[in-house]
Amino acid sequence: MTTLPKPSAYAEKHSEQLGLLIQDRIEKAAGWIDFSQFMQLALYAPGLGYYSAGSQKFSQLQKDGGDFVTAPEISPLFGQTLAQQAAQIFQIMRGDLLELGAGTGKLAAELLLTLAELNSLPQQYFILEVSEHLRQVQRETLQAKLPKHLLQRVQWLSALPSNFTGVVLANEVLDAIPVHIVHATAQGLCERGVAWQDGFVWQDKVLEQAPLLALAQQQHLPGGYLTEFCPAASALMASLALSLQRGAIILIDYGFSAREYYHPQRNQGTLMCHYQHYAHTDPLINVGLQDITAHVDFTRMAYAGVEQGLSLAGYCSQAQFLMNAGLLQLMAQVSAQDVSRYAPLAAAAQKLLSPAEMGDLFKVMAFTKNLSEPLIGFSRGDKSHTL
Ligand SMILES: C[S@@+](CC[C@H](N)C(=O)[O-])C[C@H]1O[C@@H](n2cnc3c(N)ncnc32)[C@H](O)[C@@H]1O
Repeated sequence: MTTLPKPSAYAEKHSEQLGLLIQDRIEKAAGWIDFSQFMQLALYAPGLGYYSAGSQKFSQLQKDGGDFVTAPEISPLFGQTLAQQAAQIFQIMRGDLLELGAGTGKLAAELLLTLAELNSLPQQYFILEVSEHLRQVQRETLQAKLPKHLLQRVQWLSALPSNFTGVVLANEVLDAIPVHIVHATAQGLCERGVAWQDGFVWQDKVLEQAPLLALAQQQHLPGGYLTEFCPAASALMASLALSLQRGAIILIDYGFSAREYYHPQRNQGTLMCHYQHYAHTDPLINVGLQDITAHVDFTRMAYAGVEQGLSLAGYCSQAQFLMNAGLLQLMAQVSAQDVSRYAPLAAAAQKLLSPAEMGDLFKVMAFTKNLSEPLIGFSRGDKSHTL
């Protein structure tokens, strides 16, 4: 196991405070909470959780601080390419753009600037963000990057709109939604939760909770198998589907189809923590100081959307989607002779497209409603049929 950097005294104190809060919840729940409650508190406990507290999370390099990097942080090229897809839709219909979990706000800034250039602006740019701290970071980024007439289009929401027309975008949001852990033991299916014994420890309980039990039984997990299920992500998807009157929902995240997710060889699940640019698999340490994520089961997402009346518009790798949406054409606008501008673009494209980096593991899934035109992002290599 990798040796992780030691947190500062200040960070340790912060972590202890959150630890006490979670310990208290465990005590009040007769000594055990399920992992989704633990993850919810570790990431989102007001003022203390990883996303709610004020630490820097996003950066490209370890030396710049932060814990991980997302595509909008790698390069403006990501947002500029996504904007080509959004522009196609806004040229067909008028509407708003709703971004879920906008991180530092860089993607919002890039989308608005590019959509303005393409003469395809949404009427409003809504952001739904659960972290008050990140809402503040987003405000600062957008104030610094956008001219006033674009800034005026941005509005933060505290809940999903009941009727939405336009484009919904979520980059790396589903992977941050708390998951349940199921363990197939000799005693039958158990839910893995967290107890306190001079520290947080894993503890299994026979799984009796009906919806989760039904989800786990569908996968016929072999003995010893440990994996995650995310009913909250399906519920979010269903709510988005009910809200959408006309337009598209585009989800970008790392994940696979259910067949790959619950493959017999993936018997330790997909849970991953990110701390100061180290990836590891122990969410019970450094509580509140590290990101906790699980991969997305895209088959489940597809069902959740289609069951609520959406059409599945496409599913493919991030690399395929970005190429279809015109990433290489955008790069070609900069001369390769102009090394100072071209070299960073080439390095970013390598990270976004390479199968060894984000290109293959990250997938894009889109749904449409009352929109019959095929989306440009899936013009080649659509893998919806494999879900
Ligand atoms: C890994 S970050 C990704 C941020 C950004 N989209 C990016 O690509 O850089 C996850 C984001 O989702 C937000 N989030 C988590 N659950 C959410 C929910 N249910 N609704 C809206 N935002 C959520 C987090 O607060 C955070 O901003």
